[in-house]
Amino acid sequence: MILLLLLVSSVSGIEWDAPTPYDPVWLASVQTFPPAGKVNETRLWFWGWVYEQDVQFKLFTRRNPYEGQDIKTNDTASLRNSNFNFKNKVKVLTHGWLNHGSSPMPESIKEAYLNISDLNIIVVDWGNAANVNYILASYNVAMVGRLLTEFLNFLISEGVSMDDVHLIGHSLGAHVVGIAGAYVKQGPIDTITGLDPALPLFTLGNKDARLDKHDARHVEVIHTCGGYLGFASPLGHIDFYPNGGTRQPGCRFDYRGLCAHNRAHMFFSESIISSVPFTAVRCKDYDELYYNGSCQGTGETLIMGGFDIHYGKDGIYYLKTNAEHPFAIVDENS
Ligand SMILES: *[C@@H]1O[C@H](CO)[C@@H](O)[C@H](O)[C@H]1NC(C)=O
Ligand SMILES: *[C@@H]1O[C@H](CO)[C@@H](O)[C@H](O)[C@H]1NC(C)=O
Ligand SMILES: *[C@@H]1O[C@H](CO)[C@@H](O)[C@H](O)[C@H]1NC(C)=O
Ligand SMILES: *[C@@H]1O[C@H](CO)[C@@H](O)[C@H](O)[C@H]1NC(C)=O
Repeated sequence: MILLLLLVSSVSGIEWDAPTPYDPVWLASVQTFPPAGKVNETRLWFWGWVYEQDVQFKLFTRRNPYEGQDIKTNDTASLRNSNFNFKNKVKVLTHGWLNHGSSPMPESIKEAYLNISDLNIIVVDWGNAANVNYILASYNVAMVGRLLTEFLNFLISEGVSMDDVHLIGHSLGAHVVGIAGAYVKQGPIDTITGLDPALPLFTLGNKDARLDKHDARHVEVIHTCGGYLGFASPLGHIDFYPNGGTRQPGCRFDYRGLCAHNRAHMFFSESIISSVPFTAVRCKDYDELYYNGSCQGTGETLIMGGFDIHYGKDGIYYLKTNAEHPFAIVDENS
């Protein structure tokens, strides 16, 4: 009872959007889910509580590619005294469950972008709220998303146009950026890239609590562990399904699906610097991919990822990759 009161009082203090209703079917599905490495029991009692200082926004540019500068929401000096360049575009990178601000995602994507061009790379470090068990982390997503919305609103008030903003999120981070995009004051955000958006506890039904095509002008999704750790169903304007989008070559048994889940950000970071494009064929429809695991295609093609996002016909796209780096396959016909 005391615990319940504690929960209610701590939760009512914040603007709280639970990601999904508490659904016993999904709960059952995550109970068989591999347990998190270490759960901070203190945080367990305060599920859903994200302290503002648990979410940090770190700026990286070519002037400071390794040492991030803290930019604080509503703190104009922290922005003006940083290396933030208002002439350059903004890429916001958001990691997923059990990761943090210096995990391979975002690191490899940051490095790839800065290798090509000087950009304002903002890494959202929500490691404290992501390194709890999956259920808690998924509840934290909504709150982290709202804090990112406030941060973006702050950038807008300082003169940044959302036309220049591209949000990229992996796993639970894909839903963080989706929620952030949905609520931003002067949207829409130009582009969102969802890298294998997390599936457990998120469903197609409640689109306010997850990434969907209304969260930005252009939403592109790369599915690599669909039906397990990631969503299989299309969520964006353009959905890529490398190798069918469920299992990935080179991942062997991969019984927890983590190898396939991580391929999404590995493909994406490679695509930014690769001279070999990840060319995908457009499927007739989702059924063609769903029933055959691959697509003959309609004859139309589109490049997945890249330094400049390739806009094309909305739809479902299929491609094959190599089993290891470099993943992009050289086209023998060219
Ligand atoms: C667990 O989380 C609480 C609340 O954020 C924090 O004060 C404490 O230091 C954490 N403990 C460990 C072992 O990380
Ligand atoms: C930033 O300012 C806005 C508008 O005044 C306010 O709604 C929001 O809560 C503030 N956020 C933070 C983190 O200070
Ligand atoms: C980009 O990557 C290449 C190859 O790894 C490296 O030689 C070069 O120094 C990098 N450039 C920048 C600006 O990081
Ligand atoms: C599956 O592939 C076969 C052979 O290419 C094709 O005839 C069939 O139409 C495909 N199924 C769907 C549902 O598209």
